[in-house]
Amino acid sequence: MSQPSTEPTATIRTSDNQLFCCKSIDKLISDSEAPGQRLQKTLGPWSLTALGIGAIIGSGIFILTGTAAAGEYFQAPSILHAQALDVIINLLRTGSTAGALMHGRPPAGPSIAISFFLVAIACSFAGLCYAELASMIPIAGSAYTYSYATLGEIFAWIIGWDLILEYAVSNVAVAVGFAGYTKAQLAVFGLTLPEKFASPVWAGGQWTGAYFNLPGFLIVFLLTLLLVRGVKESAETNNVMVLVKIGAIVTFLVVGGMLVKPANWHPFAPSGFAGIVTGGAIVFFTYIGFDSVSTAAEESRNPQKDLPFGIIMSLVVCTLLYVGVAVVLLGMMKYTTFVSGAAAEAPVAYAMKYLGVHPLFRSVIVIGALTGMISSLLVFQYGQARIWYAMSRDGLLPKLFSAVHPKFKTPYWSTWIACFAVGIPAGLVDIGDAADLANIGTLFAFVLVSLGVIILRRRQPDRKRAFRVPFVPWFPLISIILCGGLMTGLTVITWLRFVLWLGLGLLIYIFYSRHRSEFAKK
Ligand code: ALA
Repeated sequence: MSQPSTEPTATIRTSDNQLFCCKSIDKLISDSEAPGQRLQKTLGPWSLTALGIGAIIGSGIFILTGTAAAGEYFQAPSILHAQALDVIINLLRTGSTAGALMHGRPPAGPSIAISFFLVAIACSFAGLCYAELASMIPIAGSAYTYSYATLGEIFAWIIGWDLILEYAVSNVAVAVGFAGYTKAQLAVFGLTLPEKFASPVWAGGQWTGAYFNLPGFLIVFLLTLLLVRGVKESAETNNVMVLVKIGAIVTFLVVGGMLVKPANWHPFAPSGFAGIVTGGAIVFFTYIGFDSVSTAAEESRNPQKDLPFGIIMSLVVCTLLYVGVAVVLLGMMKYTTFVSGAAAEAPVAYAMKYLGVHPLFRSVIVIGALTGMISSLLVFQYGQARIWYAMSRDGLLPKLFSAVHPKFKTPYWSTWIACFAVGIPAGLVDIGDAADLANIGTLFAFVLVSLGVIILRRRQPDRKRAFRVPFVPWFPLISIILCGGLMTGLTVITWLRFVLWLGLGLLIYIFYSRHRSEFAKK
């Protein structure tokens, strides 16, 4: 592979093999300025930070903290449902397939607070890599665009396709979660939604008899109307929602903090470091989203400075809130409480109710949780549309995906397609394994982005970087090792689905995109 060119406008092949052709960064930037394809630049550093917090704090913190602290131990129903690393280790240890299926997670207990902190550190290494690439390639498309400029067309396609798992699939899970919480909250007010129109059609491996989960679809539909109208309006709405959910979490920290019994913090780490690590693999989901700040590159007023700021600041704020929630929740009740039932499904709400917190405060928390889910949905729908927009501009997806609304200047076709791609499955399926698929897709993207930083430092050492990752290649390598390590904690079926998904994407690339990219035309 030869050196990528930095020619400003022409399409230059950087390799004889189309698969490894890289886009010129200057050309990427000039393409984004083309008439009819330019997005409005309205976002400042704090709006970008709010975008990150909006995406990061979704349903995870309100659900996973308790279960990760409580742990579990069971025989996996089949090899498909065992963790990939567990299967290999247990097989080597016991020498039998039955032994290989013994599978579980030691409880992290109150030390889940340390898990949150350690996962944040792992994410920060990837976050620094995102920040460097976002500051040098301030173009919509995030990891997809960075891969096109660093690794080559085939990697760009793979990552663009993979990011659908992080954005659309995780949003299916959050929309289904939103529907469940809404139904439960409305029931508290005496309003019962008809089961047939407010439940998943397919859940737990069987048909439920329901027709459609309307609240899950409707919330995505309403957010799409907002996103099509304009990013400024969407960002302002997001800022308000972020304030509401931070307010709700702070309320929980204060109210819950008064109910803490220090005895509940003992033992602090019932399973030692093993519990802290396995707890971390679960709560990784709660951090997904900080990278979505980079999808707003083209709508940012000063991307070189503001994108790194937005990424790092949103991680810092969420880490403080997450560690706080973990410390308070596990101080309110013994970690063993959250092992199953209502306490596992909604640990924060359960602890408040059990300890007799005033219904007003409880409502504030639930409304904050719902708001958190809405803003998370908003940012991911936004990001998904921007990634398709960028892929279409490069010819890898049909032109429709990069059409910009004549009045609102938003990629409205992509936004509407994302609406139905998320809303319809959200109306049909259960949360199921969507979160696991989102985890594996996200971790894979983190690995490729970290690799991209190392490659680009070698190929284009002199290009201006408003933000530089310190200690390259060590920091990106640490990111690759930590993210790869977390991937091994996911189940075999997740890995299989991931490989199938990538295989499907490759078929589309071979039969469609390969023939339409700018490198094919040359
Ligand atoms: N980080 C997001 C959540 O916790 C996906 O819901």
